[in-house]
Amino acid sequence: MEKVVALTKRRGFIFPSSEIYGGISGSTLMMPAAVWAASGHLENFVDPLRQCLGQCKKRWRADHVKGDRCPECGGPLDEPRMFNLMFKTHVGPVEDHASEVYLRPETAQGMFVDFKNVINSTRVRVPFGIAQQGKAFRNEITPGNFVFRVREFELMEMEYFVKPNEDDEWFKYWREERRRWYVEDLGLSPDRLRFYEHPKESLSHYSKQTTDIEYEFPFGWGELEGVADRTDFDLRVHQEHSKEDLSYLDPETNQRYLPWVIEPAVSLERIFITLLLDAYDEDVINNEPRVVLRLHANVAPVQVAVVPLSKKEGLIKVAREVQSSLQGRFRVEYDQTGGHIGRRYRRQDEIGTPFCVTVDFDTLNDRAVTIRQRDSTQQERVPIADLPDRLQQLL
Ligand code: GAP
Repeated sequence: MEKVVALTKRRGFIFPSSEIYGGISGSTLMMPAAVWAASGHLENFVDPLRQCLGQCKKRWRADHVKGDRCPECGGPLDEPRMFNLMFKTHVGPVEDHASEVYLRPETAQGMFVDFKNVINSTRVRVPFGIAQQGKAFRNEITPGNFVFRVREFELMEMEYFVKPNEDDEWFKYWREERRRWYVEDLGLSPDRLRFYEHPKESLSHYSKQTTDIEYEFPFGWGELEGVADRTDFDLRVHQEHSKEDLSYLDPETNQRYLPWVIEPAVSLERIFITLLLDAYDEDVINNEPRVVLRLHANVAPVQVAVVPLSKKEGLIKVAREVQSSLQGRFRVEYDQTGGHIGRRYRRQDEIGTPFCVTVDFDTLNDRAVTIRQRDSTQQERVPIADLPDRLQQLL
């Protein structure tokens, strides 16, 4: 057992969590108070809170309400108070100060705290990135707008380590690259995306410059993703607090330094809600109203639905063959549920399936099938043998 444990650490499979602060066994999403004291979150990860003193007693984020009256009941609001967004708890049976931990409000700190483990176990060279996806927790005062703001979310972050003072160019690079990803790889409408550059006074405590990639939601422009220039802030404070040397020896110049960090950060929830809102559409097909998700094929849960026209055995056999010729190359669903073919198309339209492949009675003679396109509802006849390549072309 010891040998395997040592290997996982040496080669970077599993690191002891928060090791530079003495470790915390059995926890990854919970990190000791020392981590959050060093990172500045205990002091600065706060939102201004105001409570209604009138009838409804509701609590509001001070920066979300205009004026001094409650948006719900019109009552007066009290003076803003600072409220820390982290969930605190204790590990072990004793609630003493030493066992105080916080559920991580960002995954970022795990990557800074593990920086030395990564450097020692891999052969990365600056510039390089550490990326992580996992649950983050925030005691939001006003969760809402569906999954736009929730208290537990799947955060996806990358800490991209660069040479000191090369941050400006990498910051620009990642802003552009992240925007490109949304437009080209996820298919979001470019005219509903914009950059919002934070003014100095609204920057997080660790940031030199931050640009939000905003989307035009039905409730107004809102932050989809943040790209922040964290300088060497985090490595520096952890080095100071933990007394561990977190510097990196640059093999090119033989110099030691703390790398600077550019960080793109976004939650799966925000990407998900944005994709759905951007894709949702209603139109009329053959005089019938239709709901359709115009999802990019990269993110459609089903890319090709194979639909036999009837449950007759001959058709089903061929439809199954068609299905297996596509599986492995595309995300395929086989839909044999009875009912009119039009109803099955509508269902696929609503889940955003770009193509339906229909197997009908002619297929038995001509070994060809019909591809129906979601967006135009256009149909084309294709020999089964050519189907995978033709679909690849269309995707
Ligand atoms: N490490 C940097 C950081 O955490 P942030 O702007 O506080 O920065 C990053 O959060 C991203 O996480 C946001 O751009 C958003 O996509 C997502 N996010 C933040 N709070 C959220 C919440 N309560 N619910 C869902 N997603 C959230």
